[in-house]
Amino acid sequence: MIKYLGSKRVLVGVLGAIAGAVETRTALDLFSGTTRVAQEFKKGGCAVTAVDSATYAHVLAQCYIETDAAMVDMERLEGILGELEALPGKRGYVTEVFCEQARYFQPRNGMRIDSIRDHLELHYREDPLFPVLLTSLMLAADRVDSTTGVQMAYLKSWAPRAHNDLELRVPALLPGSGRAVLGDAGSLAGSLGRFDLAYLDPPYNQHRYFTNYHVWETLVRWDAPEHYGVACKRVDSRDDATKSPFNSKAEMPDALRRVICDVDAETVVVSYNDESWVTAEDIRGWLLEAGHEHVELLDFDSKRYVGAQIGIFDPSGKKVGKVGRLRNVEHVLVAGPAVKVERAVEAVRTG
Ligand SMILES: C[S@@+](CC[C@H](N)C(=O)[O-])C[C@H]1O[C@@H](n2cnc3c(N)ncnc32)[C@H](O)[C@@H]1O
Repeated sequence: MIKYLGSKRVLVGVLGAIAGAVETRTALDLFSGTTRVAQEFKKGGCAVTAVDSATYAHVLAQCYIETDAAMVDMERLEGILGELEALPGKRGYVTEVFCEQARYFQPRNGMRIDSIRDHLELHYREDPLFPVLLTSLMLAADRVDSTTGVQMAYLKSWAPRAHNDLELRVPALLPGSGRAVLGDAGSLAGSLGRFDLAYLDPPYNQHRYFTNYHVWETLVRWDAPEHYGVACKRVDSRDDATKSPFNSKAEMPDALRRVICDVDAETVVVSYNDESWVTAEDIRGWLLEAGHEHVELLDFDSKRYVGAQIGIFDPSGKKVGKVGRLRNVEHVLVAGPAVKVERAVEAVRTG
């Protein structure tokens, strides 16, 4: 799994327990990110639809959710990964921009990323294994990067893991069926069909995933974009088309309210944290407005992401961000028929 802000590492067991308790067979993860939660639902036997507006998140969903492990020729997959591993490195966009102008990767790893990614584009673009191979490369790059887990900056001295060699591994594919959808949750929510359970985990502050993970966006799009600033962010980060209403204080409350009303699911689970622009009471009100009979709120204490713990530095070593508070509260609201919501809460409480 890639390092990801807001990834539900701690809550994943809770969300899986809720899905099990309400006997979910069809699940929607509307802001799927790493697909950690969607994978948990798939492991529980659900047919899962994973939606995200980021291209890299879509590739992760095509790999882990849409691909049925039972249908994959593992010998062929391992063979292709071996072929990619054996490629000699060559200097390209990643080396020039992300290793020489910025310092996200050691140049020898950047050169291998360049040559593997070019080879994938040339020989495997139309292959059903393309998203699996690309995911393997993204995860390999993530294991040797030199960041705190966001790509707004790189570390002033190399992270120890950056000195390791890039190593492609077979992603842990899951058996079962699923669907990956790339797009805006607000436009899609009402048109995806009916689900037993929908999980909503929207961004809850101004920090945009498109810019926080611009290196993955470029690795997946492979479009060698113009870039700006020390972090070498994509110039299209400034375009309205890459902005999300969920990162705007003015637009987020109504965007979330509309998604809650549009999504068609018997049980709806919403998670957010206590640094969000909306309160639990706001969300509870919207869930009731959407017609759900009963809503329960569960709170979980969690550690904040690592950047908040060590502070943020620019490449010259100057501190550009403050160390914030180190813990926050994750809220989970469960809405649906009273009997099912109570069953879900009971399953979480009894662990
Ligand atoms: C809090 S993260 C979700 C994390 C995910 N639950 C996990 O465990 O990895 C929010 C996600 O919403 C996506 N996103 C932002 N705006 C969106 C939009 N308008 N429509 C769909 N997805 C969006 C981001 O790309 C990001 O992956």
